[in-house]
Amino acid sequence: MRNERNKPLWGGRFGANPAEAFERINASIPFDIRLAPHDIRGSIAHARMLGEQGIVSEGESKDLVHGLEAVLSEVEAGEFSWTLSDEDVHTAVERRLRELVGDVASKLHTGRSRNDQVALDLHLFVREAAEEMMSAIAEAMHALVEVAEANEGTILPGYTHLQRAQPILLAHHLLAHFEALRRDLARFEAAREAASVSPLGAAALGGTPHRIDPGMTARDLGMEPFRNSLDAVSDRDFALDLLYACSVLGAHLSRMGEEWVLWTSGEFAFATLDDEYSSGSSIMPQKKNPDAYELMRGKSGRLIGNMNALLITLKGLPPGYSKDLQEDKEPLFDSVDNVLSMLAVLPEMLRTAKFDGERTRSAAGGFALATELADFMAMRGVPFREAHHTVGSLVKRCEELGASLEEIPDEELRSAHPALADFPKNLLTPEGSVRNKKSMGSTSPESVERQFEEARRYLEKRAASQKADG
Ligand code: ARG
Repeated sequence: MRNERNKPLWGGRFGANPAEAFERINASIPFDIRLAPHDIRGSIAHARMLGEQGIVSEGESKDLVHGLEAVLSEVEAGEFSWTLSDEDVHTAVERRLRELVGDVASKLHTGRSRNDQVALDLHLFVREAAEEMMSAIAEAMHALVEVAEANEGTILPGYTHLQRAQPILLAHHLLAHFEALRRDLARFEAAREAASVSPLGAAALGGTPHRIDPGMTARDLGMEPFRNSLDAVSDRDFALDLLYACSVLGAHLSRMGEEWVLWTSGEFAFATLDDEYSSGSSIMPQKKNPDAYELMRGKSGRLIGNMNALLITLKGLPPGYSKDLQEDKEPLFDSVDNVLSMLAVLPEMLRTAKFDGERTRSAAGGFALATELADFMAMRGVPFREAHHTVGSLVKRCEELGASLEEIPDEELRSAHPALADFPKNLLTPEGSVRNKKSMGSTSPESVERQFEEARRYLEKRAASQKADG
């Protein structure tokens, strides 16, 4: 940031420069400078259209485009400098353009306003951010599939109420997260679609007398044109869509974070993280903390907060531009940055973790197998409620005997209920129980194999369509 002061570009009717405190609250340049590449791309499309439509001459259009390309190179090289008195990114770019190409720069703003300009910048930002986040989500989905494959036979308890419920395959568990991320991808896709509408050409709010062609600028940017100019400058729904997608993804990542905090605790000890993905304590030498997973749990708060912040900012605004809309950017940037930082660490953190299969298996035995007995009886014609009751008493009996279900003598089974006389004891193992699940989408190895195949096909199809889109 530079310290000199430029006269505001709206300064014509003003007798004095803005007070410093006003300038500070009014300026968005400290944070909207990151929109510069989008702002310039939008301006290039606008300058081309002005030339095509004969609103500026062909030569002027070329000068504007070349000048804007030079500003873009400065931005990309990190050489672009700005001052607080530039106010916002739009003014800063125009100021620099004027320094490079002279007075023709003053024609760039013909037929547009900062209101449609900023809306366009934000659309372009959201579209790009959605794409980046979608690739990062797909990478996490790859990692889930790889880890599930690498631990194919591993069994752990599935929980309800955080009480051991039934044995399940670790692969099944990880593929459950895969499904949640698949839905997240669809939400980001929807946000990207919503952002693919260009508001450029709405001008301040009601259009413009110039014979602009909003369809041309939209096509140039790979977007659809707006239909209603007032809506075009007022709409921030696409940003909300992205923030909502970030919030739901954040909730999923938070749940994963919580699970790994448990799994890596001494109490569970189901898994250990690679040293590269854990931190120590400054006082307790033995500690190895799952900080990144805790942050995944913690950051969901700000993601939900950011969505609420924008929703609340928008709720009372009249149609048309109000400066309140400047508040749309920081929450959006914050969510995108934090989601990307979580997704950057997750895939390798998953791939490098180690599971203790012995430990997870032994936690999945015992009373977690009780449903097998009840299901077996129900298959022999005993009403399930009755079977449930019988097995409940059996569990109680085991507790009295201090025995586990697997150890229960045959005669105890028989005397509990005649339908248990020929109960195959192999069902009372984590493997037997898992294999015994026959229903669609279940945790049996065959079912999980089908889920794997589908997951791989989905990722391959996605990769192929990415490639085709270039
Ligand atoms: N910095 C403003 C924003 O972020 C740009 C639009 C300014 N428009 C205006 N009419 N003052 O929203």
